[in-house]
Amino acid sequence: TSNNEKGRGSFILLEGCDRSGKTTQAKLLIEALKEKNQKVEFARFPDRTSEIGKVIDQYLKSSSNDRNLRAVHLLFTANRWELMDGFVKKMKEEGVTYVIDRYAYSGIAYSMANGIDKEWCQKMESGLPKPDVVLFLDLSVEDASKRGEYGLERYEKKAFQQKVRDNYHELIEDNWKVLKNNININVIDATQTKEEIAKQLLDISLKTIEESKNKPIQVI
Ligand code: TMP
Repeated sequence: TSNNEKGRGSFILLEGCDRSGKTTQAKLLIEALKEKNQKVEFARFPDRTSEIGKVIDQYLKSSSNDRNLRAVHLLFTANRWELMDGFVKKMKEEGVTYVIDRYAYSGIAYSMANGIDKEWCQKMESGLPKPDVVLFLDLSVEDASKRGEYGLERYEKKAFQQKVRDNYHELIEDNWKVLKNNININVIDATQTKEEIAKQLLDISLKTIEESKNKPIQVI
């Protein structure tokens, strides 16, 4: 099932802190892209359904501190490696566009907040497929916490989220030079209304789909 005429689908990535609206916006974006007759699928990392994902799920739900944090980083990374081959195949062969909620950039920003150096984190992500565009939903921890109580999982605490947000900003200011190839990143002001954000994400995504359909998928 070759998809030569229509070209490949895109890899559109949503990133941001907890409660920045990623999951809501991913759903809206998928609906909107479908209305524009795009073949589109949703995925998220961590994907908690695989064997590795189940271990990650246990880690996120537990509060014990007996885990080696580099080993934890590798679990999240392994979860990307185990799934991306299948996604890339569908992008290439079926022209499916993937809207993905979190990826290597979460991996780096969250592991840095756990005290791991960014170069080490980066090495483990190196060679993974690179998103065609990153949509970073930017919201202060203050505003995020006003959206209601954080959940009960390990990282859903204000002080930790503040570190994560600072890390994201440090990495964005460098244009993620820590990664080999610069990424195409859009910082979206997540204090806007749901509808305003959705419109921006749709415009950028349609442009990305058009621009990347005849280009090879790069790696990070
Ligand atoms: P979720 O709330 O989007 O399901 O993500 C679960 C948590 O895992 C969230 O706090 C972010 C964190 N995370 C990492 O620490 N490393 C990673 O590589 C990814 C993808 C998520």
